[in-house]
Formats: sequence, structure tokens, C-alpha cells
Amino acid sequence: KADLRSTLLEINKIAAQYFYVQLKSEQGKAACTYLKKRKLSDDMVKAFGIGYSNKYSNDLFRYLRNKGYSEELIRQAGLINTDEKNGVYDKFWNRVMFPIMDVNSRVIGFGGRVMGDGKPKYLNSPETAVFDKSRNLYGLNRARTSRKSCFLLCEGYMDVIALHQAGFTNAVASLGTALTAGHALLIKRYVQEVYLTYDSDEAGTKAALRAVLILKEAGIAAKVIRMEPYKDPDEFIKNLGAKEFEKRIENARNGFLFSLEILSKDYDMDSPEGKTAFFREASRRLTAFEDELERNNYIEAVARQYKVSEESLKKLVVKTAIGDG
Ligand code: GTP
Ligand code: MN
Ligand code: MN
Ligand code: MN
Ligand code: MN
Repeated sequence: KADLRSTLLEINKIAAQYFYVQLKSEQGKAACTYLKKRKLSDDMVKAFGIGYSNKYSNDLFRYLRNKGYSEELIRQAGLINTDEKNGVYDKFWNRVMFPIMDVNSRVIGFGGRVMGDGKPKYLNSPETAVFDKSRNLYGLNRARTSRKSCFLLCEGYMDVIALHQAGFTNAVASLGTALTAGHALLIKRYVQEVYLTYDSDEAGTKAALRAVLILKEAGIAAKVIRMEPYKDPDEFIKNLGAKEFEKRIENARNGFLFSLEILSKDYDMDSPEGKTAFFREASRRLTAFEDELERNNYIEAVARQYKVSEESLKKLVVKTAIGDG
């Protein structure tokens, strides 16, 4: 088993080197142009080992076979597919390739982006004996040495790279999946604080709300940075630059207060009934803080933000806590 794992890591490493060489070759010109258009520097291409999978259907497969790896092993590395019509063919084809590395910079899988608007936009390696999406984070191998006391957690590979390029070397992303408790524990080995910089769309907002809860469960303080009016950190930085992003970090919102702000949109805060209903739900959530000092600090902050007396909010929270709210 350990043997299989190390062989798959070896295959992935060779594949990553292969894609990297392809990018620099004549065939990789369109991919280079695409990366330039997206303002990715050569330094980042090198640092993240970005490559290109070319247009011929089984080049990588043949290359790996020539190196002596069996079809079965190459399949277990997640690099080929088979069907009756085409036989064996490379999974990744005409895509910009992002090697996904574990914390020790070993290649465990790939994300491949179509150049342009084709579908799927990203193709990711399947889970294999070495690729567990819920226990790895993109960029962690670099972020861990950033010497910052927090991580910036974003959605996409391009976001991570754009942030690193702009000097935010503590950026990581989950691998095209929602944040899990496993991710939170992994993060906790390195930092106690996370700034969430998810996309501005509804999916990103929902994902941020969930992530706040998952991180809190693991004892990690979460803050939320919004990217409006842009879609995500990559586009934000391209348009407004690193200084403006730094300001967003400074103005990050507390995760709990952010979740209440989103909640308040479901209530008519201009009517007494709506506001009362909102405060009941807010009180229910405030009871989740077991530490009394922490709870009181949040009660104070909520009272101030939503203009209600601290005293009456505190009473409501106490009543809610004993099931009499
Ligand atoms: P760009 O358009 O290249 O800037 O990508 P993005 O990261 O902004 O894309 P998006 O916000 O749509 O997605 C965030 C992350 O979700 C990506 O980095 C991928 O990991 C994953 N993802 C996006 N699209 C797909 C898809 O079509 N299939 C799969 N499996 N994952 C995807
Ligand atoms: Mn910090
Ligand atoms: Mn998105
Ligand atoms: Mn995005
Ligand atoms: Mn993007």
C-alpha cells in the first residue's frame, strides 16, 4: 500500500514535469498567451508548476508507458480514461494544468482549466490513493512558510495564485469542494485565524456562512472579506491592486456578525415585528457562545449595530438559553 502510494506520487511528478515542458514548447503557445492574458507572471508559473496538456489524445499515457509504468498504475493515478470507441486516452486534454500539491510539495493530483468558455471549466483529478480532497488545500505548501498568523481562504486556484503574486503568500483554497472539518483541522496546525475571501455571488456567500461555522467548530476565528464589486480575489486584485485588497483585510468583518448581517436580509428590519423576529433568531445564535465574556461582547456588538438596548438583548438571550425565549 505504501508502495502504491509512492509510485503514484512518482507518476504524478513525472506528469507535472511533462505538462510543464509542454507549456514551454511550441504546442503550449496558446496556453502561454492565455496565462499572459490573465496576468500571471512567469515567476508564478514556475512557483506553482503550471503546465499544459496538449491536443493529442494519449501523449501522456504513451510517455508514462515508455517510462515503464503499467496501464493499471496510470489509471490509478487518475490520468487516463477508457471507453470502447476511443480506447485509452488522457484525461486532461488541451487544458492549462495546475498541479495540486500536498503540504510537502508532492504532486497528488491536477486541476485543468479549459482556455476560454468550454465546459467543464475545470476538470479535476478523481480521488486516488494519494489524493484526498478533504484533507488537502491548494497553496498550503507555500502558505505554511509565509510566517503570517492567519490564512486567506479563497475558492479557486487562480485566486490563490493571484494573491501570492500580489504578495499575499498566506492564501490557500479548498479543491473545488466545500470546506470540511478535515480542512479546518489541517488549517489549525498552522494558524488560529482565517480570512474568508470567497466569491461575491450567492454560492460564495453561502459557502462563507458554512465555512464560518466549520471553522468555529474547530476553534478557528473566521473573518469575512467581501470582493464586491468584483467577482473574486483574482479579479479584485487585477482591477484595484494589492493596496486596496490590504484595506479589505483591515476592514474584514467578524464571521458571526457577518452571518447576522446576511440573516437580517430575511427580515423586514423597518417593522417592529420584523425586527423582533430577527432578534429572537439572533438571540438563539448568541446562546451558542458558551464563554460568558465572549457572549457578552457579542451581545454588546449586536446591540450597537442593530440599535437595541444591550440590557434587553441580554435578557432575551438569557430567556432563550433556558428555553423560554
Ligand atoms: P477562473 O474562471 O479561472 O477565474 O476560475 P474561478 O476559480 O474563479 O472559478 P469558480 O469561482 O467558478 O470556481 C472555483 C473553484 O471551483 C475552481 O478553482 C475549481 O476548483 C472549482 N470548479 C470551478 N468550475 C468547476 C467545474 O466545472 N468542475 C469542477 N469539478 N470544479 C470546478
Ligand atoms: Mn493577520
Ligand atoms: Mn465561484
Ligand atoms: Mn471565482
Ligand atoms: Mn476567477
